Amino acid sequence: MADEIAPILTGLRQDHRNMAQLLTLLEEQVQEIFDERDGQLGLMVDIMRYMTVYPDAVHHPNEDMLYAELRAARPDLSQGMARVTEDHLKIGDQGLELREKLEMVASGNAVRRKEIVADALRYVKALREHMHWEESDLFRRLDKLVADGHGQIESATVVRRPDPLYGPIVDKQFRSLQDALAP
Ligand SMILES: [Fe+2]
Ligand SMILES: [Fe+2]
Repeated sequence: MADEIAPILTGLRQDHRNMAQLLTLLEEQVQEIFDERDGQLGLMVDIMRYMTVYPDAVHHPNEDMLYAELRAARPDLSQGMARVTEDHLKIGDQGLELREKLEMVASGNAVRRKEIVADALRYVKALREHMHWEESDLFRRLDKLVADGHGQIESATVVRRPDPLYGPIVDKQFRSLQDALAP
């Protein structure tokens, strides 16, 4: 069994738009914390919980799988992308750490505001830069792979798990986040 790469790429690009929306919301809430207001800690926890259960668990593994395919099929299109897997690991670690700190604050533990602000801003910056690199460079290489006739990938390597926030069924743990995102 094989999957078409093009629709997977469309899905990855949509994931980026979704993550960009969440990063903007996270940044707004961080500003509140920075200004010594409490902000909506619950929303920040929800955002980081989403990041660890969907982007880190589904989006990044699917990218890694496509990049591996690209490296195997087209070494000529695979220059200078060695650090992408490292980027995914780093973003995953930073995200988990931030999630844990936010959960601690939300449950009444003392974590220094400055530390939360610095961690969150570092996370937002790293993920934005990473997505920009993919959009402006890596995804285009994958478009080229497909355009040149390599349009399919072995199905067994694709991670299939519905998006619990932007997918057809919103998981109940993300309902208030969904409300916060509603226009
Ligand atoms: Fe990525
Ligand atoms: Fe990505």
